[in-house]
Amino acid sequence: MHTLFINITQLVSVQNPTEPLRGKELQHLPFITHAYVWVKDGIIQGFGKMSDGVPLLEANIIDCDGGFLLPTYCDSHTHLVFAAYRENEFVQKIKGSSYAEIAASGGGILNSALAVQNMEEDRLFELAAERLHKLILLGTGAIEIKSGYGLLPAAELKMLRVIQRLKQAFPMPIKATYLAAHAVPPQHTASTFVQEVINHTLPQVAEENLADFVDVFCEKGFFTPEQTIDICTAAAKLGLPSKIHANQLHISGGVQAGVAVNAVSVDHLESMDVEAIHALAASQTIGTLLPTAAWFLRMAMPPAQQLLAADCAIALATDFNPGSSPSGNMNLVLSMACVQMRLTPQQAINAATIQGAFAMQLQHVVGSIAVGKRANFILTKPIKSVDFLPYSFGENSIQAVFINGRLYK
Ligand code: NIG
Ligand code: FE
Repeated sequence: MHTLFINITQLVSVQNPTEPLRGKELQHLPFITHAYVWVKDGIIQGFGKMSDGVPLLEANIIDCDGGFLLPTYCDSHTHLVFAAYRENEFVQKIKGSSYAEIAASGGGILNSALAVQNMEEDRLFELAAERLHKLILLGTGAIEIKSGYGLLPAAELKMLRVIQRLKQAFPMPIKATYLAAHAVPPQHTASTFVQEVINHTLPQVAEENLADFVDVFCEKGFFTPEQTIDICTAAAKLGLPSKIHANQLHISGGVQAGVAVNAVSVDHLESMDVEAIHALAASQTIGTLLPTAAWFLRMAMPPAQQLLAADCAIALATDFNPGSSPSGNMNLVLSMACVQMRLTPQQAINAATIQGAFAMQLQHVVGSIAVGKRANFILTKPIKSVDFLPYSFGENSIQAVFINGRLYK
């Protein structure tokens, strides 16, 4: 089936980079005004200016009159599968407890783990599917989802099976990450848990093909850089590349550990020093910034300007999870990135689309407007420039979302 999107005021992100954008390149967001896009069977076949002539085809016509058309957001870091929100901790934090104090007193990740362990797979799936449905309507058209709230091997496998079921149930690209070491479960020390991961759970995850990536929370009081490297090295032998929670609460060595194992991305980076920035700049690893998590925990934002000045490749994602970012709204991430980290709207849109695609190894499939990519589009309401998207925070400027060229409802 052919579909023609016509009368697009601005077709945004007409590009097909082969490498993640670095430093100054992030500002370059190419567009075509008064454009059309031709889609067949969910894949972009061509595009151009209306005045150059729209292909004469028997097609389903979508008139975008006044709207901008952008690639959907690529949210490369989420913990979308969880059993319950934790608004009680929100109140504890308001009253002065720190994230680390809540975690140390059995709240935080351990609290979420108990809830996941006690919930049936079907119910976990239903809750995650409801959340994902809402996120697509907010413009997300490709997503990475982590385990890590199971901790016990059976509960981790249950979470990964839920992600497999989401892959079957939703028409968009979904990547599964085995977050192997997120917290130390009560029955273990960090080192006995890492041994269990490496010798027992990881081989099973790989054997059943349940994950695309592996992840470790490399952080003081959680897992060391050495443990991170051990897990990621074992995963690499089984064909799983890594994405790492690095330098969130402390300068933890997580960035250097990620670079050492050639991680696809190191994520968070609220706590950076010059060494970590240089290590990242000299690597192929993407730095994924999660401004809603930093904001929600009242932490300093990651040093986006220094990362760009050092020529790093950066991406933006939501970190959607019940502890540090109970929102998966990429529009809000864009606004926060612009206001709090001084990214320009063009930089923020690139970071939230093509860069996120690279951070999920989906750059050939989504993340920009290019022939052969999926027709996953955001159609905006009538706006005058892309600047309006992050500017009008808290507003929904999206008129419609198309997944594989079809209106998503
Ligand atoms: O990415 N930092 C570790 N993991 C999550 C938070 C997990 C939680 O608090 O439940 C994060 O922020
Ligand atoms: Fe996270």
